[in-house]
Amino acid sequence: MKKKSLRILGIESSCDETAAAVVEDGRVIHSSVIASQVDLHAKFGGVYPELASREHIKVIDTVIQDALQQAYMQLRDLDAIAVTRGPGLAGSLVVGVNTAKAMAMTANLPIIGINHLEGHLYSAWLYEADSKPLMEPKFPLIALLVSGGHSELVLMRGHLNYQHLGGTIDDAAGEAFDKVARLLNLTYPGGPSIQKAAAEGNPSAYNFPKARLSEPWNFSFSGLKTAVLRTVEEIKASNKDVPVADIAASFQAGVVATLFDKTMDAAREFKAAEIIVAGGVSANKALREAFCSQTKYKVHIPAISLCTDNAAMIAGAAYYHLIEGQADELNFDVQPTWPLAEVA
Ligand SMILES: Nc1ncnc2c1ncn2[C@@H]1O[C@H](COP(=O)(O)OP(=O)(O)OP(=O)(O)O)[C@@H](O)[C@H]1O
Ligand SMILES: [Mg+2]
Repeated sequence: MKKKSLRILGIESSCDETAAAVVEDGRVIHSSVIASQVDLHAKFGGVYPELASREHIKVIDTVIQDALQQAYMQLRDLDAIAVTRGPGLAGSLVVGVNTAKAMAMTANLPIIGINHLEGHLYSAWLYEADSKPLMEPKFPLIALLVSGGHSELVLMRGHLNYQHLGGTIDDAAGEAFDKVARLLNLTYPGGPSIQKAAAEGNPSAYNFPKARLSEPWNFSFSGLKTAVLRTVEEIKASNKDVPVADIAASFQAGVVATLFDKTMDAAREFKAAEIIVAGGVSANKALREAFCSQTKYKVHIPAISLCTDNAAMIAGAAYYHLIEGQADELNFDVQPTWPLAEVA
């Protein structure tokens, strides 16, 4: 007899995206709806926490209704509700978690609180219901998780099994993109703006220094950011125009080379079968190109729309907990700080 498939509604509200999605068996996306607050926060050059939570309250019901409608499903068609429990902004997380609890209680469904970083990793397993199934990532694998708040190298020996190898000791990769974009007067969020500017520039125009760290799997991007700052200041002091495209391209090349080299070293060292690259920065074209063309390893990178925050990844990760019989009581709290390694 064919095993019954499991359909999970995922809810994500950890930062400035309100999202809901329905995913089957951890892989097949039936719907994925994202309401972005990017325009709201752009004038502040970053996320304004109180505004973020208040915006989540306004749109979350509609986002969830849209996700169910687009999946042609009702609550009775679901097997569980998954919600981002942390890490993230407390006030934002509370909106998603309380909504999820109310729904789980009403529909008498299990609820699963998911680590947002675990969600980013499981975005590599997802594909759209109307597209060709993707190959499933093979263990053991090295995962590079590069987002707005994290840069992590993780060894996964199986589902829900995370060994933290290293992480950033200062700025996360996405944060570095955002800060350097601000230095170059480019719009928020910085990653896409740097990528756009870099497309017109020469990646070898500046040789920005790469951090040398005693811990092989750690990252540091603050030195690179400071080198960009000094360069911009020197150019401005000599009354010349700042060559934004060349600086953006050289900075991007530096970040990509660091991320790529460390991931490859880790893959060799830990005898990985395959590699995953996930998180907002994995939307970066230069990074995707490096991982697709410069290595013989099979590299799984989510579709661009699944790199930044979404709820399909939360529903996807929740499936692997559900089949292990793991669900939460209704009284769980949000967890604004929650390292991924604790999940194992
Ligand atoms: N094309 C791109 N190139 C480089 N960086 C990008 C690109 N697109 C998005 N980013 C960066 O990705 C980050 C957003 O990613 P994501 O939504 O995963 O972060 P977050 O949820 O805020 O942080 P975290 O997941 O660590 O809690 C931002 O820093 C943004 O600048
Ligand atoms: Mg994120």
